[in-house]
Amino acid sequence: MGHQVAVPHDLSGIPDWINGTINNPSSLYEMGPAGATLEGFMINWMLNKLGWFKGKNLCDFRKLNKNGSGILTHGGSIANMTALSSARAAIAPNAWEDGSPEDLVVMGPSTAHYSILRALSIMGMGKKAFVPIPVDKNEVIITSTLEEIYAQVKKEGKRVMALVANACATSTGLFDPLDEMAVFCKKHKLWFHVDGAHGAVALLSNKHRQKVKGIEKADSIIWDAHKMLRVPALCTAVLYKKQEQMWNSFHQKGSYVFHENEVIGMDSMPFTVECTKSALGTKLFWSFAMEGQEAIVKFIENSFQQAQNLYNYLKSQEDFYCPYPPQSNILCFQYKPHIVNDQKQLALRYKLINSGEFYITSCLIHGKRYLRTVMMNPLTNINDYKALSNAIAKYALTIKTDEN
Ligand SMILES: Cc1ncc(COP(=O)(O)O)c(C=O)c1O
Repeated sequence: MGHQVAVPHDLSGIPDWINGTINNPSSLYEMGPAGATLEGFMINWMLNKLGWFKGKNLCDFRKLNKNGSGILTHGGSIANMTALSSARAAIAPNAWEDGSPEDLVVMGPSTAHYSILRALSIMGMGKKAFVPIPVDKNEVIITSTLEEIYAQVKKEGKRVMALVANACATSTGLFDPLDEMAVFCKKHKLWFHVDGAHGAVALLSNKHRQKVKGIEKADSIIWDAHKMLRVPALCTAVLYKKQEQMWNSFHQKGSYVFHENEVIGMDSMPFTVECTKSALGTKLFWSFAMEGQEAIVKFIENSFQQAQNLYNYLKSQEDFYCPYPPQSNILCFQYKPHIVNDQKQLALRYKLINSGEFYITSCLIHGKRYLRTVMMNPLTNINDYKALSNAIAKYALTIKTDEN
């Protein structure tokens, strides 16, 4: 219940074993044909879910007109940086040679994942290039402020390189209104980047798709398979609506690997930070090959339902406070907020962890400390919720004793 780490299938370690045994890294087809092909296949599958795939079938690796594109990479942080590099290439094509123009900024919710700001610093733009958009009491972006802030940014002589959305936010598991943000981006011709590291999976479920309404209007999306697709760490997709956007992200030449027009359809090396990368496509494919897409969708729906069940249970307990109904499988709450102050919520978490009984996390929402659960295990049930709340109550008592 702690972090956003997948509980994988029993046999999910096999692709890592294959990779570790034959060691065929997959960024070039000639190095790892199986991994590279499965990467191309799974990227096509994801593009298809977004309506960005124009091929005949998922084994169609041609660079078709108006097709989307994508690559797999080692984790969401690198993925965010990759997408932002592409956004920069779109607005400032010379940045690769000349460095970042000083007038570029990125707008996004003040609660954007820290990897966004890190990426901007690494890209030489500095953290100050991030323009935080205010969020509401549950830390969802307030879209009504976008126009005013954009006008102010332009008045200062800056150019907006991208607008970033949380889908969903790491702390709260709540989704920004993607459709509204997409409309704003279209109006002002801005790059729209959706950080769907955790929540892009909502797209797969008829029940939850509404939460990512408008996601297909993004220019780029990142999607962690090692969070909600049951893939062992690490495996993230960076997806682009227009394939040209991906081609422009890295202009580096390496005569021993890039032979310009000879690049095979599923070579990902020209488009990723990594040179050598493990056979990520095999891992992702494996997750689906084990049980099929329907089972993954069931897993996602079950995880989301668990957070709802935990919410319902805690709401029925007068000692717990939940600030919002969950939209994903992440839920934040406080124990006796009128008695147990912020510091004590944190102390409670450490008591729980040190007891070995439960492993949950904690986060700040508008400066207030919350306990945070991420319902990743399909076997968690009502007995676990009861045991968790009992354990919290038990350790809260010991905090009082410590004070005395
Ligand atoms: C919204 C969001 N973006 C990006 C990341 C970073 O992903 P990774 O841990 O795969 O680097 C996370 C991780 O929790 C996240 O929640």
